[in-house]
Amino acid sequence: MPWLGLGLGILGLLALAALAYWQLVVAEGTYLGPRAVILMYDLSARLYERIKKYDVGAEQWYLGLPLTLALDQVPAPLVLDVATGTGRLPRALMRQAAFDGRVIALDLSRRMLAQGVRETAQFSDRLTFIWQDARNLPFHNNVFDAVTCLEALEFTPRPSQVLEELVRVLRPGGVLLVTNRIGPQAKLLPSRAYPRDEFLALLGSLDLEDTSLRLWQVDYDLVWAVKAGQPRGGGIRPLPEVMRCPVCRGSMERGGDGYHCTECTREYPVAHDGVIEMARVSRRTT
Ligand SMILES: C[S@@+](CC[C@H](N)C(=O)[O-])C[C@H]1O[C@@H](n2cnc3c(N)ncnc32)[C@H](O)[C@@H]1O
Repeated sequence: MPWLGLGLGILGLLALAALAYWQLVVAEGTYLGPRAVILMYDLSARLYERIKKYDVGAEQWYLGLPLTLALDQVPAPLVLDVATGTGRLPRALMRQAAFDGRVIALDLSRRMLAQGVRETAQFSDRLTFIWQDARNLPFHNNVFDAVTCLEALEFTPRPSQVLEELVRVLRPGGVLLVTNRIGPQAKLLPSRAYPRDEFLALLGSLDLEDTSLRLWQVDYDLVWAVKAGQPRGGGIRPLPEVMRCPVCRGSMERGGDGYHCTECTREYPVAHDGVIEMARVSRRTT
């Protein structure tokens, strides 16, 4: 009988270890909620680039070059990178000599953004970082020439809600570039990762056309699409023209040490490293 107890104890411990591995390593905390996800990224921010070991040539070939080509008819394009992490997509774009636009890079992990500021210092004159949740983008409708979101949708509680936000802020004729999680671990992410046909159907239910899926990595497809409608809007503009208050959706103005909403008067500070800290205020008040 003691052997039975010992066996059951060991089985229990193994089950617990497997559960922890699934929740924390594979799912990166996504089933525990956004706070858990962001805590994990905050804790690993300084190591992130060393873990990922991005290859500059591959980043140019798969991301920077095709996106620059997709935007080559747009003078000075305005690009939004959602869940930017340490600024991987902005770097890939800025390294393209032909890219003459500006990038706004948003993330909910403040420490990933701090690291991103350091990693992209050489491009700081054409790059703005915003601390905010991807589920509530602080921008007016139809403003960006391209919206990107790489390796992040599956870590949000409802990827379809974030996709809707990405499409909302993309202008008609603008380019959407996102990733869809595939590979062996995708099956361990129910309601977060979608089989290819379901992901394409989801994009089809939004205001998108010319959707194409390209093999990229073991764990991710790259998915490109264009927002339907007569091309209009876009181009670099002063930030207050594209931003809206994440709490009341009012217009924004620059002033003092940051930005403020002209309607509810909430203030969004710009930190010493240049990051616009919207999450600090909007999290407290929503
Ligand atoms: C695997 S990293 C990808 C970062 C970057 N796109 C890249 O490809 O290197 C996932 C990122 O998503 C961010 N993230 C997760 N949930 C988020 C949310 N609700 N809003 C904004 N960012 C979020 C994390 O903070 C993290 O930086």
